[in-house]
Amino acid sequence: MIVLETSNLTKKFGGLTAVNDVSMTLNQGDVMGLIGPNGAGKTTFINAISGLNPPTSGSVKMFGDDTTRLTPEKMCRLGLSRTFQIPSPFPKMTAIETVMTATIFGNESGKVKDPVDHSREMLDFVEFPMAETVVAEQLNTVQLKRLDLARALASNPRLLFMDELASGLSEGELNDIMRIINKISKKGISILMIEHIMQLIMAVCNRLLCIQFGTKIAEGLTQEVANDPKVTKAYLG
Ligand SMILES: Nc1ncnc2c1ncn2[C@@H]1O[C@H](COP(=O)(O)OP(=O)(O)OP(=O)(O)O)[C@@H](O)[C@H]1O
Ligand SMILES: [Mg+2]
Repeated sequence: MIVLETSNLTKKFGGLTAVNDVSMTLNQGDVMGLIGPNGAGKTTFINAISGLNPPTSGSVKMFGDDTTRLTPEKMCRLGLSRTFQIPSPFPKMTAIETVMTATIFGNESGKVKDPVDHSREMLDFVEFPMAETVVAEQLNTVQLKRLDLARALASNPRLLFMDELASGLSEGELNDIMRIINKISKKGISILMIEHIMQLIMAVCNRLLCIQFGTKIAEGLTQEVANDPKVTKAYLG
């Protein structure tokens, strides 16, 4: 089953075409890696799909419906959730309050019986390394990314976008993240993840999409895309 399909998606910022005519497909159960050099348009691509920065042209189909230009709130209710390259939580909120906000506003009212319990479950699930009462502004980037993931999962998504979740992690933390991504996938959540760390991509992704200068240069099975000369050239310059 196709979960996400973009057709000729384009995003321009004035004279700059950040995403250029990208068509792709993500299937139920995929853990798809979105790769490409710095500035390739990866974040802009997921922003255009998720409603944060709507596309200039082209269309998006999600769970079988046309979702082009729906607001992020509407897409959240349909089952899309995402993390951010630079998480920006409410600085004075505690970890549990942050996740509870997503639990309460990200789900249909009454669907989650006990928001505190549910939010605790999310923090446990992402193996949040701090107490639930820690205040967001006291967290370092790695801890903030883990909190952002718990927040994204709290709305019970069917499709999850992650934007460089693993950047800045040590070797040991990388293994933790691999395990957590596999757990998310096992829950039946389809994943599109922007990532630069090849070791992580090769370990968890079944398919890859590579863009360069806003244009798709490869899409397919992980091994095939990773060995595609166009892709290696894009990375090596
Ligand atoms: N809001 C914006 N206004 C103008 N230009 C933008 C905006 N957002 C992104 N861009 C430009 O669009 C291009 C693609 O940026 P984007 O952040 O999507 O790249 P990326 O692939 O996510 O890069 P990185 O790997 O460094 O995160 C860049 O040239 C960037 O400067
Ligand atoms: Mg980016």
